[in-house]
Amino acid sequence: MKVLIVGSGGRENTLAWKASLSPKVDKIYCAPGNAGIAKYAECVDIGAMEFERLASFAEENAIDLTIIGMDDPLVGGIVDVFEKRGLRVFGPRKNAAILEGSKAFSKDLMKKYHIPTAAYENFYFAEDALKYLETARFPIVLKADGLALGKGVLICNTLEEAQDGVKTIMQDKKFGAAGNCMVIEEFMTGREVSVLSFVDGKTIRTMTSAQDHKRAKDGDQGLNTGGMGTFSPSPFYTKEVDDFCSRYIYQPTVDAMAAEGRPFKGIIFFGLMLTLDGPKVLEYNARFGDPEAQVVLPRMKNDMIEVMEACIDGRLDEIELEFEDNAAVCVVLASDGYPVSYEKGFPIEGLEKFRDQDGFYVFHAGTKFKDGKIVTNGGRVLGVTATGKTLKEARANAYEATRWISFENKYMRNDIGKAIDEA
Ligand code: AMP
Ligand code: GLY
Repeated sequence: MKVLIVGSGGRENTLAWKASLSPKVDKIYCAPGNAGIAKYAECVDIGAMEFERLASFAEENAIDLTIIGMDDPLVGGIVDVFEKRGLRVFGPRKNAAILEGSKAFSKDLMKKYHIPTAAYENFYFAEDALKYLETARFPIVLKADGLALGKGVLICNTLEEAQDGVKTIMQDKKFGAAGNCMVIEEFMTGREVSVLSFVDGKTIRTMTSAQDHKRAKDGDQGLNTGGMGTFSPSPFYTKEVDDFCSRYIYQPTVDAMAAEGRPFKGIIFFGLMLTLDGPKVLEYNARFGDPEAQVVLPRMKNDMIEVMEACIDGRLDEIELEFEDNAAVCVVLASDGYPVSYEKGFPIEGLEKFRDQDGFYVFHAGTKFKDGKIVTNGGRVLGVTATGKTLKEARANAYEATRWISFENKYMRNDIGKAIDEA
C-alpha cells in the first residue's frame, strides 16, 4: 500500500521509519517532510495546512492511508476534508481533535465526566480573570485555551505575575486567538508522565509510558520548549498507577467523547501528573508527542500500520499492543538559542555513523538539503535515540551517540533521564 504522512518534524521522521518496517507498505510520501524523512519517503512540497491540495495529491497518487502527525491540521479539520472525499485517513475529526484544540473544552469534559484533573475556571473576559485572581492561592497556572506551540501555559508565583499573565494572554494576545479564552487552574506538584494511546472511537489501547523534558536548560530551568528529550518507560508509572488511570482516566475519556457525539479515532496523548492525591490529567493531545514518539515507537513490536487501520475500522479490540522489555532515551540536539532565536543553515556531520547500528536512531526534526549537504533548519534539529536493557544503559548509549554528531551551534540538555537515578 501507499502511505502519505503529513508533517515535518522528528515525530514524522519516526512515523515514516516505523511505517517503512510494515510489510504492507510499498511506498511512503511525506508532506512537506525533511532531509531525514527523505530516507524513507518521497517528500512532497505541500504544506500541512493545505488540506485540499493534500487531498488532491492523495487522490491522484492513489494513497491508501494518510497519517496526520501534527496538531494544527487535526484541529483545523483535515480529517473531515479527507473523509468527505472518500480518502482513508488516520486521526481524529475536527469535532474530536477539540480535545487538544480547546483546553476549556477538555476541562469541562473532565469535570462533567468526573475525570481527575486540577480544579479550574474558564474565563472569556480579562476583567473576570483579574477579579478571580484577587482571592486565588499561588502558585497558579494560566493556560491559553487554544494551540500555542506548547508555550501557552504560564505558571505564576504571585498575584502580580498572574495579572501580567492575563494581560499577555487575553489583552496583548501573545498567542493570538488561542487567548480569546483562558483556563486558570490549581498548581499541582508531582512526577509528570506521558501516556500515548491508540483509540478507535470506543476501544483504547495504551502504549508504554514516557517522560518528556520541556524546559530548555538543565535542571528544568529556562523556557518551555516543544521537548528537549524523553525516556521510556517511566519508572514512576507503576502497575497501580496504570490500573488507576485505566479505570478512572483512559476509558472514561474515550466514553465521554463518544457520549458527547464526538467519537475519537486516532492517538490520545494523556499528559499526567502523579500527585499525592493520585494521577490527574494535565492535558490531552490528539496526536503522538514529539519527542515521546521517538522513544515509544522504537520499543513497539506491532506493525503500526495494522494498528492504525484497526483504529479506522473500529476493530482495535482485536489487537494487543506489545513492547520490547527494554528502555529508550532520546536526547534532542537543538540550535543554541532555541526556543527564542537561533541561526540555521549549518552543515551537519556524522549522520552516517548511525547506519547499521542496532538500537541507535537519529530522527530529523529541523533539517534540509542544501547543495547536496544536510544542514540545520530549525530550533530542534535532531533527536538521538538509543535503546538499552535498562534506562541507565539507554541513557549512556544515547549520550554516547550525541557525540557522533557535530554542527555549529549544537545545544543539548545534559540531564535527560536524570530522574531515573531517583527511582
Ligand atoms: P501543558 O501544555 O498543559 O502540558 O503544560 C505545559 C507544562 O506546564 C506541563 O508539562 C507542566 O509541566 C506544566 N503544568 C501545566 N499545568 C500544570 C498544573 N496545573 N500544575 C503544575 N504544572 C502544570
Ligand atoms: N512533547 C510534548 C508534545 O508533543 O506536546
